[in-house]
This record gives sequence, C-alpha cells and structure tokens, in this order.
Amino acid sequence: MPARLPEPSQPRATRRLEHLRKLARRVPFAMNLGRWLHRWLDPDLRAIERLRRQAPAGLLQPFPDTFDDRYPELFAALAHRLRGIERPRVLSFGCSDGAELRSLRRYLPHAELVGIDLNPRALGRAQAHLAAHPDALMRYHLAGDTRDEPRESFDAILALAVLRHGELEAGRPVDCADILPFAQATAALADLDARLKPGGWLAVWHAHYRVRDAAATAAYPAETLPFSQADPLDLLYGSDNLRLEGVTSAEVLFRKPA
Ligand SMILES: C[S@@+](CC[C@H](N)C(=O)[O-])C[C@H]1O[C@@H](n2cnc3c(N)ncnc32)[C@H](O)[C@@H]1O
Repeated sequence: MPARLPEPSQPRATRRLEHLRKLARRVPFAMNLGRWLHRWLDPDLRAIERLRRQAPAGLLQPFPDTFDDRYPELFAALAHRLRGIERPRVLSFGCSDGAELRSLRRYLPHAELVGIDLNPRALGRAQAHLAAHPDALMRYHLAGDTRDEPRESFDAILALAVLRHGELEAGRPVDCADILPFAQATAALADLDARLKPGGWLAVWHAHYRVRDAAATAAYPAETLPFSQADPLDLLYGSDNLRLEGVTSAEVLFRKPA
C-alpha cells in the first residue's frame, strides 16, 4: 500500500491568524472590535462606510464590487445591437473602478464611453487607470445621477449591479423600504430614461426591482439572454416595497420606444 503523504502544513501567517481568531472568539466583543478595526484601517472599506453614513441623494448599491468582463454575453449582445452606429455613446451608471468600461472598450472599440459613480475612491482608481492608459473617447464623472449629461444623448446605458443593495441580498427581508425603497430605484430609472435616446438600449442586471414596474420605463420592450434565462433574478421587490414571492425575472435588455 503506498505510504500516505502528510497533509500540507498551513503557512505560518495563516496559523497565527487562525490562532488570533480563536482567541477573539473567547473574548466578548473582540470579533466585533476586530471587524470595526478592519473597516477603519482599510481605505476602500472606509470609503464605503463614509458613503453609507453620508447617504448622498440617490445612493443605491453602496458596495463597489466589480471585475473584468463580468457580463460577456450582455456586452456582446449590446455591441451587436449598436453595430450600425458609427460612434455610439454609452453610459455606465455605477461604473465603480472602471472595470466595466474597460471591458466594454474591447466590444465597442469606436464608442464614446462615459462612467459615473458616487464612490470617490473607486472612481479615483478608474481615473488613475485612464491617465496611465489614455483613451480620448473615455471619461469618468463623480456623480449620483446623470443631470450633467445632455438629455436623450446616449445610445445605450448600463445599470449593472446598481439597482440593488448588499443588505437586501444578505437578509432577504420581506420589506425593502428601510434599506432601499422601490422609489429610489424608480427615480434612478426615470433619470436614465431622460438621458437615453429614443430607440436606445438600457441594460439592467443584478437588480432587486423590475425595470417595467417603474413608470418611466414601463413601456420598454424587454429581451432575455441565455445567461439571464439560465440564472434569473430571484430576489425582487414590487412597487409596494414587498418581496415578490416565487417571482423570477430574466429580462436584461430593454429598448426605449422610438
Ligand atoms: C456593485 S458596483 C457595480 C459595478 C459594475 N457596474 C458591475 O456591475 O460590475 C455598484 C456601484 O454603484 C455605485 N452607485 C450606487 N448608487 C449610485 C448612484 N446613485 N450613482 C452613481 N453610482 C452609484 C456604487 O458606488 C458602486 O460603485
């Protein structure tokens, strides 16, 4: 019988951390203190905390999680629908550190790309990347709405992982009013509707609200994509702020009536 190999030993730093965690679990409040210290020491977490404390008008999802090429099918579908336009104007609402806009550039090499976000630290990272890799047709703007952009000026707008809140995801409460009321999401959708050209495309995913429940976007025809059908949204809230039981939605691409 072959000799069993010994279990690989944990690195020393991991063992020390685990030891500290065990100690902390024995001391009342130590875990909470540890979490608080972690939040206080990490500049990214501090930026999120500040945003949540200040709660600027229009704040939706306060967490800036994002990554490169997060929605490949959606980006490709959008590029396909915009193919007849020489220089499409595209807005990423809630662009975080710019990963979304940088990914979109690969699908839309000739587009004018605008990213807006409320988180100065995430946006600073986007701007720093842009300064290091100049792109004359890309810009970022620190803002919580699109009022500085001309009306009906975008061919496409993306609001991805924005019309949601991490605390709704974590607790799945019956009523979303205290965390992110329906009215907040519909105000954002009305703002986006005003900036979208007639016939323009709105992409919404990872949302807790249905686009067509909002007055401004109620008449937008909707499309699904294979990825959204395979894994539809299943934590949804209605216009009364109550969780929609047993309801899912795979609608991801919406078109403003011409
Ligand atoms: C989870 S990230 C989404 C990033 C990217 N869209 C994605 O899907 O990977 C949500 C972002 O929305 C931003 N945000 C929340 N409310 C906003 C608002 N009213 N205006 C602009 N950005 C907002 C947050 O600061 C955060 O960076």
